[in-house]
Amino acid sequence: MKVNNLLLSVFLVLSFSVLSALSSFNIPHIISANDDQIIDENLIDQTKDFKKFEPTWESLDARPLPEWYDNAKIGIFLHFGVYAAISYGSEWFWNNWKNDKVPEYVDFMKRTQNPSFTYQDFAKSFTCELFNATEWAEIFADSGAQYVIITSKHHEGYTLYPSSYSFSWNSMDVGPNRDILKELSDAVREKKLTFGIYYSLYEWFNRMYLSDKYHAFFQQTYVNNKMWPELQEIIHRYHPEIIWSDGDWEAPDGYWKSKEFLAWLYNESPVKNTVVTNDRWGSGMPCKHGGFYTCTDRFNPGKLVEHKFENAMTIDKKSWGHRSNTVLDDYLTKDELIREIVSTVAINGNIAINIGPTMYGKIEPIFADRLRDMGKWLRINGKSIYGSKPWAHQKEGNDTWFTMKHGESRDSVFVFIFEYPYDTNAVSIASLADFVDSSSKVKLLGYSGIVKHQLSESKNAFKIQFPEKRFIDKAGLFSVWTFEVDIPKQK
Ligand SMILES: *[C@@H]1O[C@H](CO)[C@@H](O)[C@H](O)[C@H]1NC(C)=O
Ligand SMILES: *[C@@H]1O[C@H](CO)[C@@H](O)[C@H](O)[C@H]1NC(C)=O
Repeated sequence: MKVNNLLLSVFLVLSFSVLSALSSFNIPHIISANDDQIIDENLIDQTKDFKKFEPTWESLDARPLPEWYDNAKIGIFLHFGVYAAISYGSEWFWNNWKNDKVPEYVDFMKRTQNPSFTYQDFAKSFTCELFNATEWAEIFADSGAQYVIITSKHHEGYTLYPSSYSFSWNSMDVGPNRDILKELSDAVREKKLTFGIYYSLYEWFNRMYLSDKYHAFFQQTYVNNKMWPELQEIIHRYHPEIIWSDGDWEAPDGYWKSKEFLAWLYNESPVKNTVVTNDRWGSGMPCKHGGFYTCTDRFNPGKLVEHKFENAMTIDKKSWGHRSNTVLDDYLTKDELIREIVSTVAINGNIAINIGPTMYGKIEPIFADRLRDMGKWLRINGKSIYGSKPWAHQKEGNDTWFTMKHGESRDSVFVFIFEYPYDTNAVSIASLADFVDSSSKVKLLGYSGIVKHQLSESKNAFKIQFPEKRFIDKAGLFSVWTFEVDIPKQK
């Protein structure tokens, strides 16, 4: 991930069992490959016509995105590495200090360390002594997220597993002395969440990479001897079902052998039928090629995106990795977070919500608090999110958003209200006027009582009356209120 000030910015499995009484929850089918066996037959069917993908963008881009991903909608993103042990500024610390020599970072090191201190020295403090993968997985499952993506390796090059290609610069050799990827992938799958990895193609200070760069990328020593075998090793060992590539922008896809890699991934890898990938496969590739698009960090353009995309964003607005120099206003509030989810899903996006754990291996209570609120909201409103599709209208004004689901005889439109209408206790939705008919009914998700509604006399707006606020509050509804309106199927 990029830092904005420097570069171009950068069921709910949640014991659904407990809530199985709420049959209205639509829980996507979660695939989790723990071995080379493919679990979901639909996915096999989906890709069976593509016996062999060619290493061309035309062929690779034609692969259908495995359905589980669009249904899942919400993931957790984790930036975890040696930068957690510094916990200052952002995960770009090493680059800011040594490459860009940003005065604030140089000064920080002068004040806090002796002159011979290296970035590598920080790895010893990245101890993770309180890391409990089950605890993390419980927080994630409880949040309503359906998948988890962790930095197997960020731009610093340090790997969170005992990489055969990263001698002495991995979580087994220095720091925690543990295989973080193994522990986390097991725990996450135990909770029926899908496991994915982030992988930085480039490494700021890798000498093989820098030599290739010095030779204008006409040689591929780094790609052949480090990146390719390492990425394949991760995939063979941990079977991640998301490959979230990054750090691609300095070189074209030809240098990274991205097309060849993806052809291998889709044709031969142990996750070939279920894996999803993003679009960061070389300079000029994002928003053009690959699986789901990420375009830029925190991509959420406010209008329909035809191609499936993911809004990768952070609860700490200024950093992906953990940092201690935060103030309360740096964190999204629960209202902001929930609105971000809705406004992303409504326009065809998934959302990957990032948190940075501490060097002790803990998720700070402020992150856990936001994720818990998100889970509370999703337990009530999840039906409008998981497995939903963008509707004919995505929004009306800035505070009313829509998603939809196809039903057997009629369709459902979900109407999200961001601002409570305190003055009128009612909302008028013009977008619905042409879609409702005389048998349309309205439900407020999480509330069992009747909801009054009517088409305005001029037939240009559909008016929905909120129940009394005290009943809504008592039912525990908050942040964004969701109405379900059934409409005739569209031709
Ligand atoms: C890890 O967390 C789980 C769930 O909270 C708990 O049951 C387990 O005892 C913990 N393991 C250790 C080693 O503390
Ligand atoms: C909606 O949001 C946009 C972008 O933030 C803003 O420019 C515009 O004024 C807002 N419109 C209304 C009606 O509030």
